[in-house]
Amino acid sequence: MKPNIKVYKSIDDLSLAAAQLFIESASQAIAARGQFLVALSGGGTPNHLYRLLAGAPQRNQIDWQKVHVFWGDERIVPMDNPGSNYFQARKVLLDHVNIPMDHVHRVQSSLEPASVAIEYAQTLKEFAAPPLDWPRFDLVLLGMGDDGHTASLFPGSPVDESEPIIAVTANYQGRPANRISLTPRVFNSARRIIFLISGLSKAVTLTQVLGEDSHLDLLPAQRIQPTDGELLWLVDEAAASKL
Ligand code: 6PG
Repeated sequence: MKPNIKVYKSIDDLSLAAAQLFIESASQAIAARGQFLVALSGGGTPNHLYRLLAGAPQRNQIDWQKVHVFWGDERIVPMDNPGSNYFQARKVLLDHVNIPMDHVHRVQSSLEPASVAIEYAQTLKEFAAPPLDWPRFDLVLLGMGDDGHTASLFPGSPVDESEPIIAVTANYQGRPANRISLTPRVFNSARRIIFLISGLSKAVTLTQVLGEDSHLDLLPAQRIQPTDGELLWLVDEAAASKL
């Protein structure tokens, strides 16, 4: 299927569009099912979106009491470490909105990675959409690394497709190496998945990921293919410059 790519002038325009889609997904989910289940991503790119959602007018267009926040991946560092995806989202977004604390389903990163994965699988189970053992997310936000990784699914790392969550060790740009990641089968059951891609350093890899050739092992972002949902690529002009 032809990828659905939208190109924006800047990260600001891209983030505004993403905020609109976030608001739309939230209202549709809340109207249909009474709650909005969203999986956030780490990395620097979504911070612009998080900042917008934390301020007016966007903040007031979401019924935060009905939002449940999860993470698509997490770095195994203390929860108050700036490298923690939870810490980043809390600081920029969650501390500024009226979301109940028990709706923020953070990864318990104080344990060792394999136990963290087991513990988070349990958290997901509490929101499971049978026959799945995990929730069908209304929205999944994802980024992509210069190397084609997404969430913490890195090139060449084995992905045990039988598990909803895996523990991973990967070195990337000096960021924390021990991580956990949801696996493609969890992401791919979502209703909507949005990639946020910004910057020239992503341009070549983006062309490969969106190209006709499939290299699932080398370009894990290609593993994201929703089974019965929508996949959107929001890309700024710099990242799109080689498409
Ligand atoms: C993480 C991420 C990761 C990120 C990409 C892109 O926890 O590191 O979830 O997959 O999205 O590395 O990061 P940037 O947005 O900083 O380029």
